[in-house]
Amino acid sequence: MKKKLVIAIDGYSSCGKSTFARAIAKELNYIFIDSGAMYRTVTLYCMRMGFVKEGSIDRNGIIRELNNINIEFVYNPDIAEYETFLNSENVEKEIRGIAVSSNVSSISQIHEVRSRMVELQRQIGVFKGIVMDGRDIGTVVFPDADLKIFMTASIEIRAKRRYDEMKSKGIKADLDEVRKNIVARDITDENRDISPLRRADDAIILDNSRMSVEEQMIWVHEIIENKINGR
Ligand code: DC
Repeated sequence: MKKKLVIAIDGYSSCGKSTFARAIAKELNYIFIDSGAMYRTVTLYCMRMGFVKEGSIDRNGIIRELNNINIEFVYNPDIAEYETFLNSENVEKEIRGIAVSSNVSSISQIHEVRSRMVELQRQIGVFKGIVMDGRDIGTVVFPDADLKIFMTASIEIRAKRRYDEMKSKGIKADLDEVRKNIVARDITDENRDISPLRRADDAIILDNSRMSVEEQMIWVHEIIENKINGR
Protein backbone atom coordinates (compact mmCIF):
# COMPACT_ATOMS: atom_id res chain seq x y z
CA MET A 1 0.00 0.00 0.00
CA LYS A 2 1.19 3.51 -0.83
CA LYS A 3 2.41 5.66 2.05
CA LYS A 4 -0.24 8.19 3.12
CA LEU A 5 1.00 11.68 3.85
CA VAL A 6 0.01 14.58 6.06
CA ILE A 7 0.39 17.71 3.93
CA ALA A 8 0.39 21.12 5.65
CA ILE A 9 -0.24 24.24 3.57
CA ASP A 10 0.20 27.57 5.32
CA GLY A 11 0.46 31.13 4.16
CA TYR A 12 -1.14 34.55 3.86
CA SER A 13 -4.88 35.00 3.37
CA SER A 14 -6.25 34.72 -0.14
CA CYS A 15 -3.15 33.15 -1.66
CA GLY A 16 -5.20 30.33 -3.09
CA LYS A 17 -4.21 27.93 -0.30
CA SER A 18 -7.60 26.23 -0.20
CA THR A 19 -7.84 25.90 -3.98
CA PHE A 20 -4.38 24.34 -4.13
CA ALA A 21 -4.94 22.12 -1.08
CA ARG A 22 -8.29 20.95 -2.48
CA ALA A 23 -6.70 20.11 -5.85
CA ILE A 24 -3.96 18.07 -4.16
CA ALA A 25 -6.52 16.24 -2.01
CA LYS A 26 -8.60 15.43 -5.09
CA GLU A 27 -5.61 14.07 -6.99
CA LEU A 28 -4.42 11.89 -4.10
CA ASN A 29 -7.91 10.99 -2.90
CA TYR A 30 -7.11 12.53 0.50
CA ILE A 31 -9.29 14.44 2.96
CA PHE A 32 -9.10 18.22 2.60
CA ILE A 33 -9.60 20.46 5.63
CA ASP A 34 -9.89 24.24 5.39
CA SER A 35 -8.88 25.23 8.93
CA GLY A 36 -9.72 28.89 8.21
CA ALA A 37 -13.34 27.81 7.72
CA MET A 38 -13.29 26.48 11.29
CA TYR A 39 -12.14 29.82 12.72
CA ARG A 40 -14.70 31.60 10.53
CA THR A 41 -17.48 29.34 11.81
CA VAL A 42 -16.58 30.01 15.45
CA THR A 43 -16.56 33.73 14.61
CA LEU A 44 -20.03 33.55 13.05
CA TYR A 45 -21.37 31.73 16.11
CA CYS A 46 -19.88 34.38 18.41
CA MET A 47 -21.31 37.21 16.32
CA ARG A 48 -24.76 35.65 16.44
CA MET A 49 -24.50 35.22 20.20
CA GLY A 50 -23.66 38.92 20.55
CA PHE A 51 -20.15 38.24 21.85
CA VAL A 52 -18.58 40.47 19.20
CA LYS A 53 -19.53 44.12 19.26
CA GLU A 54 -17.89 47.21 17.77
CA GLY A 55 -14.43 47.18 19.32
CA SER A 56 -15.13 44.72 22.15
CA ILE A 57 -15.24 40.97 22.59
CA ASP A 58 -16.87 38.95 25.38
CA ARG A 59 -13.98 36.53 25.82
CA ASN A 60 -15.54 34.64 28.72
CA GLY A 61 -18.80 34.19 26.83
CA ILE A 62 -16.91 32.73 23.88
CA ILE A 63 -14.88 30.35 26.02
CA ARG A 64 -18.05 29.18 27.82
CA GLU A 65 -19.74 28.38 24.50
CA LEU A 66 -16.84 26.56 22.80
CA ASN A 67 -18.18 23.08 23.47
CA ASN A 68 -21.56 24.01 21.97
CA ILE A 69 -20.03 24.78 18.60
CA ASN A 70 -20.18 21.76 16.35
CA ILE A 71 -18.36 22.13 13.02
CA GLU A 72 -18.73 19.66 10.17
CA PHE A 73 -17.66 19.49 6.54
CA VAL A 74 -20.46 17.92 4.50
CA TYR A 75 -20.09 16.81 0.89
CA ASN A 76 -22.46 18.48 -1.57
CA PRO A 77 -22.65 16.21 -4.66
CA ASP A 78 -24.26 18.98 -6.77
CA ILE A 79 -21.07 21.06 -6.68
CA ALA A 80 -18.68 18.20 -5.83
CA GLU A 81 -17.33 20.17 -2.85
CA TYR A 82 -17.41 20.00 0.92
CA GLU A 83 -19.41 22.75 2.65
CA THR A 84 -19.09 24.01 6.22
CA PHE A 85 -21.89 23.33 8.70
CA LEU A 86 -22.40 24.98 12.09
CA ASN A 87 -24.61 22.93 14.39
CA SER A 88 -26.24 21.25 11.34
CA GLU A 89 -26.79 24.51 9.43
CA ASN A 90 -25.01 25.18 6.13
CA VAL A 91 -23.01 28.38 6.75
CA GLU A 92 -20.62 28.10 3.80
CA LYS A 93 -21.76 31.35 2.19
CA GLU A 94 -22.15 33.38 5.39
CA ILE A 95 -18.67 32.59 6.73
CA ARG A 96 -17.06 34.00 3.56
CA GLY A 97 -18.76 37.43 3.84
CA ILE A 98 -16.98 40.62 4.87
CA ALA A 99 -18.66 40.74 8.33
CA VAL A 100 -17.08 37.44 9.39
CA SER A 101 -13.80 38.32 7.61
CA SER A 102 -13.56 41.53 9.63
CA ASN A 103 -13.88 39.77 12.99
CA VAL A 104 -12.15 36.44 12.44
CA SER A 105 -8.63 37.65 13.24
CA SER A 106 -9.66 38.80 16.73
CA ILE A 107 -11.52 35.59 17.50
CA SER A 108 -8.65 33.45 16.26
CA GLN A 109 -6.31 35.21 18.69
CA ILE A 110 -8.08 33.73 21.70
CA HIS A 111 -5.94 31.01 23.23
CA GLU A 112 -8.87 28.74 24.18
CA VAL A 113 -10.36 28.98 20.68
CA ARG A 114 -7.03 27.96 19.14
CA SER A 115 -6.55 25.04 21.55
CA ARG A 116 -9.99 23.69 20.74
CA MET A 117 -9.47 24.05 16.97
CA VAL A 118 -6.03 22.43 17.10
CA GLU A 119 -7.48 19.53 19.11
CA LEU A 120 -10.21 19.00 16.48
CA GLN A 121 -7.71 19.33 13.62
CA ARG A 122 -5.38 16.73 15.13
CA GLN A 123 -8.30 14.34 15.60
CA ILE A 124 -9.12 14.64 11.90
CA GLY A 125 -5.46 14.12 10.93
CA VAL A 126 -4.88 11.00 12.97
CA PHE A 127 -5.52 8.64 10.03
CA LYS A 128 -3.18 10.47 7.62
CA GLY A 129 -4.07 10.98 3.96
CA ILE A 130 -4.95 14.60 4.68
CA VAL A 131 -4.25 18.03 3.23
CA MET A 132 -4.93 20.87 5.67
CA ASP A 133 -4.50 24.55 4.96
CA GLY A 134 -4.22 27.44 7.41
CA ARG A 135 -1.69 29.59 9.24
CA ASP A 136 -0.17 27.26 11.85
CA ILE A 137 -0.60 23.80 10.36
CA GLY A 138 3.11 23.12 9.74
CA THR A 139 4.27 24.93 12.88
CA VAL A 140 1.71 23.94 15.55
CA VAL A 141 -0.98 21.49 14.40
CA PHE A 142 1.25 19.00 12.55
CA PRO A 143 4.89 19.91 13.24
CA ASP A 144 5.82 16.44 11.94
CA ALA A 145 3.86 16.78 8.68
CA ASP A 146 5.41 14.84 5.78
CA LEU A 147 5.24 17.85 3.49
CA LYS A 148 4.96 21.54 4.39
CA ILE A 149 4.32 24.28 1.86
CA PHE A 150 4.27 28.00 2.68
CA MET A 151 2.32 30.05 0.15
CA THR A 152 2.54 33.70 -0.72
CA ALA A 153 1.46 36.05 -3.55
CA SER A 154 1.26 39.82 -4.10
CA ILE A 155 -1.44 41.81 -2.25
CA GLU A 156 -3.07 42.99 -5.51
CA ILE A 157 -3.43 39.47 -6.83
CA ARG A 158 -4.72 38.16 -3.50
CA ALA A 159 -7.35 40.92 -3.25
CA LYS A 160 -8.55 40.23 -6.79
CA ARG A 161 -8.76 36.48 -6.10
CA ARG A 162 -10.79 36.95 -2.90
CA TYR A 163 -13.05 39.47 -4.66
CA ASP A 164 -13.69 37.05 -7.55
CA GLU A 165 -14.37 34.21 -5.11
CA MET A 166 -16.94 36.30 -3.22
CA LYS A 167 -18.61 37.41 -6.46
CA SER A 168 -18.82 33.83 -7.69
CA LYS A 169 -20.58 32.88 -4.45
CA GLY A 170 -23.05 35.74 -4.87
CA ILE A 171 -21.56 37.72 -1.94
CA LYS A 172 -21.57 41.53 -2.20
CA ALA A 173 -18.01 42.84 -2.39
CA ASP A 174 -15.95 45.97 -2.98
CA LEU A 175 -12.40 45.39 -4.25
CA ASP A 176 -10.83 48.17 -2.18
CA GLU A 177 -12.55 46.99 1.01
CA VAL A 178 -11.41 43.42 0.33
CA ARG A 179 -7.84 44.66 -0.19
CA LYS A 180 -7.84 46.63 3.09
CA ASN A 181 -9.23 43.61 4.94
CA ILE A 182 -6.41 41.40 3.62
CA VAL A 183 -3.71 43.91 4.61
CA ALA A 184 -5.23 44.22 8.11
CA ARG A 185 -5.44 40.45 8.52
CA ASP A 186 -1.81 39.97 7.43
CA ILE A 187 -0.76 42.34 10.21
CA THR A 188 -2.84 40.62 12.91
CA ASP A 189 -1.98 37.11 11.71
CA GLU A 190 1.76 37.81 11.74
CA ASN A 191 1.84 39.73 15.01
CA ARG A 192 -0.46 37.85 17.35
CA ASP A 193 1.13 36.31 20.44
CA ILE A 194 -0.20 32.79 19.97
CA SER A 195 0.73 30.81 16.86
CA PRO A 196 1.60 33.82 14.68
CA LEU A 197 1.76 33.21 10.98
CA ARG A 198 5.30 32.20 10.10
CA ARG A 199 6.99 29.77 7.78
CA ALA A 200 8.09 26.51 9.39
CA ASP A 201 11.84 26.06 8.97
CA ASP A 202 11.29 22.96 6.86
CA ALA A 203 8.49 24.39 4.67
CA ILE A 204 8.97 24.88 0.94
CA ILE A 205 7.99 28.36 -0.28
CA LEU A 206 5.55 28.71 -3.17
CA ASP A 207 4.91 32.19 -4.61
CA ASN A 208 2.00 31.59 -6.94
CA SER A 209 1.44 35.22 -8.05
CA ARG A 210 1.94 34.22 -11.67
CA MET A 211 0.98 30.56 -11.56
CA SER A 212 -2.25 28.84 -12.52
CA VAL A 213 -3.55 25.97 -10.38
CA GLU A 214 -2.43 23.58 -13.15
CA GLU A 215 1.11 24.98 -12.97
CA GLN A 216 1.11 24.65 -9.18
CA MET A 217 0.01 21.03 -9.52
CA ILE A 218 2.85 20.31 -11.95
CA TRP A 219 5.27 21.98 -9.51
CA VAL A 220 4.10 19.89 -6.55
CA HIS A 221 3.73 16.58 -8.40
CA GLU A 222 7.35 15.45 -8.18
CA ILE A 223 7.72 16.69 -4.61
CA ILE A 224 4.77 14.53 -3.55
CA GLU A 225 5.96 11.49 -5.52
CA ASN A 226 9.33 11.72 -3.75
CA LYS A 227 7.67 11.95 -0.34
CA ILE A 228 5.39 8.96 -1.04
CA ASN A 229 8.38 6.91 -2.19
CA GLY A 230 10.46 8.01 0.82
CA ARG A 231 13.04 9.91 -1.26
O1 DC B 1 -7.80 31.11 5.45
P1 DC B 1 -8.87 32.12 5.82
O2 DC B 1 -8.61 33.49 5.29
O3 DC B 1 -10.24 31.64 5.51
O4 DC B 1 -8.77 32.22 7.43
C1 DC B 1 -9.59 33.08 8.16
C2 DC B 1 -8.88 33.60 9.39
O5 DC B 1 -8.68 32.54 10.33
C3 DC B 1 -7.51 34.24 9.17
O6 DC B 1 -7.61 35.64 9.19
C4 DC B 1 -6.67 33.77 10.31
C5 DC B 1 -7.42 32.65 10.94
N1 DC B 1 -6.75 31.35 10.87
C6 DC B 1 -5.87 31.04 11.86
O7 DC B 1 -5.63 31.86 12.76
N2 DC B 1 -5.28 29.82 11.88
C7 DC B 1 -5.53 28.93 10.90
N3 DC B 1 -4.95 27.72 10.94
C8 DC B 1 -6.42 29.25 9.86
C9 DC B 1 -7.00 30.49 9.86
